[in-house]
Amino acid sequence: MSDYVMDADHPGLAMDRGVQDVLGKGIDRIDGVLKVMGAATYGYEHQVGDQVAYGYLITAPAAKGKVIGFDTDAARAVPGVLDIIVDDPRIPRQAAGFVPAKRGNAAIDHWDQVIGAAIATSFEAAREAARAVRVEIEAEAGRFDTLAHVTHASGPPADSRLKDVAKGDIEAAMAEAAACIDQVYSTPHQVHAAMEPHASIAVWEGKKLTLYSSLQILGAAKAVLAGALRIEPGNVRIVSPYIGGGFGGKMLGPEAVMAAIAAERLGRPVKIAMARAQLFHNVYRRTDTHQRIRLAADADGKLTAIGHDSVVSQGPDGGFMEPVALGTIALYAAPARHISHKIVTLDMVQAGAVRAPGEAVGMLALETAMDELAEKLGRDPIDFRKLNEPAVDPMTGAPFSTRRLVECLDEGARRFGWANRSATPGSVREGEWLIGMGMAAAVRINLLIDSEARVTLGSDGRARIETDMTDIGTGTYTILAQIAGESLGLPIDCIDVKLGDSDMPTGAGSGGSFGAASAGSSVALACEDIVAELAKRMDTSPENMTLKDGHAIAGNRRVSLDTLVGDAPLVATGKISQGSNARSFSQAAHGAQFAEVAVNAVTGAVRVRRMLGVFEAGRILNAKTARSQAIGGMIWGIGYALMEGLELDTRYGQFVNHDLGEYHVPVHADVPHLDVHFIEDVDRHANPIGVKGLGELTISGAGAAVTNAIYNACGVRVRDFPMTLDKVL
Ligand code: MOS
Repeated sequence: MSDYVMDADHPGLAMDRGVQDVLGKGIDRIDGVLKVMGAATYGYEHQVGDQVAYGYLITAPAAKGKVIGFDTDAARAVPGVLDIIVDDPRIPRQAAGFVPAKRGNAAIDHWDQVIGAAIATSFEAAREAARAVRVEIEAEAGRFDTLAHVTHASGPPADSRLKDVAKGDIEAAMAEAAACIDQVYSTPHQVHAAMEPHASIAVWEGKKLTLYSSLQILGAAKAVLAGALRIEPGNVRIVSPYIGGGFGGKMLGPEAVMAAIAAERLGRPVKIAMARAQLFHNVYRRTDTHQRIRLAADADGKLTAIGHDSVVSQGPDGGFMEPVALGTIALYAAPARHISHKIVTLDMVQAGAVRAPGEAVGMLALETAMDELAEKLGRDPIDFRKLNEPAVDPMTGAPFSTRRLVECLDEGARRFGWANRSATPGSVREGEWLIGMGMAAAVRINLLIDSEARVTLGSDGRARIETDMTDIGTGTYTILAQIAGESLGLPIDCIDVKLGDSDMPTGAGSGGSFGAASAGSSVALACEDIVAELAKRMDTSPENMTLKDGHAIAGNRRVSLDTLVGDAPLVATGKISQGSNARSFSQAAHGAQFAEVAVNAVTGAVRVRRMLGVFEAGRILNAKTARSQAIGGMIWGIGYALMEGLELDTRYGQFVNHDLGEYHVPVHADVPHLDVHFIEDVDRHANPIGVKGLGELTISGAGAAVTNAIYNACGVRVRDFPMTLDKVL
């Protein structure tokens, strides 16, 4: 089934009428046992026979310049070496997309750029050989400092969702305001830092290539890989059933292309994983951001001006722009609005999507600024936000599909004990610790992406779901089983879910928090067709039939599904298209973030004591996996506020903290008690199953709740993130 017309009055799907009672329940991950047993197969782990060879990437020892030549004699002499590949024109040049070298194949575009690979009979030999290759280069001075090159910046790309806006007279509004702020907030370069590195195994059979890898979106990866190798996409199969973290970074990596080139040259399977340090320079980064925020309000506390002007950076060939103001344009209205983005080209790896591109860093700044203005106005920060809650989309004037932000704020305030907060910074003390509470609003745009799935109801009464949709650890296997279980009246253990193989119907893949809505809709629509066929066989209509525990019930008849199916399995394909959601409505998910912190008055150390997130993201498909997404996002907020950041050596264009020892992310000791509460709804305008994107919503605003709590604790504002203790002190 496709062509589903989104309509709030739609009678609903089989899953809406379902009585199996599996949808929404906090069911354990159906792939969980495999994962804890070590039996789930990740990118580097697929068994492809004993002929497999090992590769190690050779990278450039400069950020800009030219490769003059290679001395590979010592490398070729390493025992076990099979090939040193430095001369193939298909060697990928950049982190994603592999833009063919506009500056020639010898050009070096960023530090540690892949320029070849050593292949050997063991990983150790390949690594030794790669390190033995002498690269002769002509280094040039590079551009590494975003603000130093801002005069050469460009504006948003033509296809950008975020256009520059200059409406009303912001200067006049600032001059006339009862209170205003004009501050610059900056965030550093960041990376995904997934636990599982990018890893690929390439196997050729004649013209056909199979790539086992760790990838979020297989359809896109297939096209990019075929393009890089200059072969037909139809000759590429990608297998990626389990993924050890993605966060936007698990798009096709240079190791995949090098493995495919090497396997073709050697006529045997080749596997390559990027080394941890290589990941920090060869997977795209999140740009640094420099955000000027101007806010003005009148004596009634109404916003009269909003300005959000950002400077971001990009590599020489990158097309992506960090949409810093994405949350800003969705959240608040004001007569004077100024939104702009400037992109500075640096001689660094491409900037790309890192978890919640736009909102993660934009809302960190905006919601800190809102806290600053609330204080200047002498208003409670929650009341200030409620006062400025718009009735329609502030940018487009479109009605909201659903927007329950005020409920999130109120419910959060009640659950967190906001009434006990002292509004005066530095007024609550426990020994040498100063205690404070902060909050922030959260918003994330809602997306729907083309997605297809096949559902088969077998003669044994079991159902099978097949799609090349991926599960990056978010719980896709489980929620798809729940949707099918509820639709078809089957217990979860009667459903087999097959994901992550590009030979299956093309799913949305994982990204942009569109996975559950898109892939889930395709499964629900496939089930619709199967239910219709079952109803026909029961001589009734779908609405007059009940499906439960593997039986169809209509009137006084109860027939088991295996009997009803008979010898020929029922097969249906469900398809949702990205154009099919009701774009006449403004669609976003919303939330409220709360934090309580303790700041050490002697050392400046910050301890987050507890956090609460209250979120409205439409229907919640699985209470447990949804909560896990939420606490993951909130933990990321702690990281963004307090510790995460790449340290750039501006002499060389190298990130010096290129490992997980020095790229700090929160560890268990940094993460306090986290509470999550969902305000459930079904957003019929968004997609058939009424789900809105959740994962990235939960990052949005989380960092600002922490920084606002720090201010409430000790009266210190830091606008240059991360807010490390030296800055707090
Ligand atoms: Mo996300 S940064 O779109 O995987």
